[in-house]
Amino acid sequence: MTQPGIELQELIAAMEQRRARVEAGGGAERQQKQREGGKLTARERIERLLDPGSFLESSTFVEHGRNRLMDGIEAPGEGVVTGSGTIGGRQVFVFSQDFTVLGGSLGKMNASKVTKIMDLAAKTGCPVIGLNDSAGARIQEGVDSLSGYGEIFYRNAIYSGSVPQISAILGPCAGGAVYSPALTDFILMSRGSSYMFITGPEVIKSVTREEVTFDTLGGADVHTRKSGVAHLAYEGDEAVIDGIKDLLGYLPQNAREKAPVKPTNDPVSRRNEKLLDIVTPDQRRPYAMQDVVRELVDDGTFLEIQPDWAKNIIVGFACLNGQSVGIVANNPKALSGSLNIDASDKAARFIRTCDCYNVPILTLVDVSGFLPGVQQEYGGIIRHGAKMLYAYAEATVPKVTLITRKSYGGAYLAMNSRDMGADVVYAWPTATVAVMGAEGAANIVYRKDIKDSENPAATRAEKIAEYKEAFDNPYVAAAKGYIDDVIPMEETRERLIKTFEMLRDKEETRPFKKHGNIPL
Ligand code: HXC
Repeated sequence: MTQPGIELQELIAAMEQRRARVEAGGGAERQQKQREGGKLTARERIERLLDPGSFLESSTFVEHGRNRLMDGIEAPGEGVVTGSGTIGGRQVFVFSQDFTVLGGSLGKMNASKVTKIMDLAAKTGCPVIGLNDSAGARIQEGVDSLSGYGEIFYRNAIYSGSVPQISAILGPCAGGAVYSPALTDFILMSRGSSYMFITGPEVIKSVTREEVTFDTLGGADVHTRKSGVAHLAYEGDEAVIDGIKDLLGYLPQNAREKAPVKPTNDPVSRRNEKLLDIVTPDQRRPYAMQDVVRELVDDGTFLEIQPDWAKNIIVGFACLNGQSVGIVANNPKALSGSLNIDASDKAARFIRTCDCYNVPILTLVDVSGFLPGVQQEYGGIIRHGAKMLYAYAEATVPKVTLITRKSYGGAYLAMNSRDMGADVVYAWPTATVAVMGAEGAANIVYRKDIKDSENPAATRAEKIAEYKEAFDNPYVAAAKGYIDDVIPMEETRERLIKTFEMLRDKEETRPFKKHGNIPL
């Protein structure tokens, strides 16, 4: 190789110097502070996320938009590192906000770096991963920084459902720094070092006099247990980043691709004897539906989404003979598996996420109904419950329903019944499908007989038995074709795998529209 001349050597050295300056971000001292807070730096996070050596940086030398207040301020890398790379060989785009540079705050040029890779991701059909660690709109840039957020929000919305967008929250994120993640498909947070709020504790104190800490206002536990804003919480940056990779493994690159199929050694015909111990015909004996899921899916691996919020419904990803599937299931251990406002929101959102990205949906039903109560009615359970009905009907992915035990009333319909668009409905011999449970039904239908009887208790018991005989089994619904088959519990895995394979090339179209009008 020929040695470059002096002039070229100087140009190369100048480039390397500039690059080193950008890569140093806010400097060693601020980076040290970042590490002391248990956090990785922006570049270390990218390194952890991507396959070694695959990172291709973009907009490296972009500088901040100059104005009077920004004069003399240095912002190496403009507070965000952007580019592309691969995860397990699959191309993704990533932006990683650098808190060491002006608190990772977002100015116009910072935003332009982010929108650049969002546009490239949309054009090439690849997921976008945002590693958020930002104090929100850059105060010194005024309306320009608000405009920058607008450009990002706009893209979050128009690319929604086109390519997966995943947000990690890895520091104190305020204002615009939380609305962009809120427009993406999934939010993952790190416990103890990440926060999300629109206005911080100081502002809240001055306006409402409420005193809160960062953690009790917008920590990972708040958003994965109380508000339902975030989907998953982890201990530390590394775990969050590994969580992103895990999640991505269940999603395709974009809405045109089918959901991934991963190789597995778990036999298709593995029998599920364990289910006989987990689910008994005794309606009063609750069981953990997660145990049922783990028994059915490949290697017992289930990535539960929002496991700590609205626990009466379970949603998450798993594989059946390698095929990625989304699972929606009632949880008899919480509120008897009834549906309420939060459960409806959680399920509807997940169903729509699966449908966007062609992930087939398995629904496991053991539901007593919609939760009765004044607060539920005042809170708009009608509007929220309708989201579930809407989301299932709207979804065109393969949809298989399995009724494990009870399925009553409106909740029977909301849990993807035949009439709401299920492609195949199975039931176990333990299943009962009715307008309501036998006790409640007897009280209403036979109220007069019971009241007029010489022995009301005996008459009531007799009427309950009569009702059970007539409805409390899967065969009435099966006789009318609402259930395709009543299947042996031990053969469920094989049956589900074969059914999803049968449905793999399913196509379903809908009447022309701009977009549907889901009740919000
Ligand atoms: C510019 C900022 C900044 C901001 C912080 N910094 N916030 N620079 N614009 N918004 C700078 C600090 O001056 C400091 O610079 C460095 O970032 C680190 O900040 P600290 O305050 O020292 O860090 P910490 O104590 O960890 O507190 C982090 C924080 C706090 C909680 C995020 O900085 C904070 O409350 N910032 C303001 C948040 C905010 O109100 N953002 C605007 C939201 S409105 P040096 O040089 O010392 O390192 C918004 C509008 C969009 O986003 C709304 C769309 C709907």
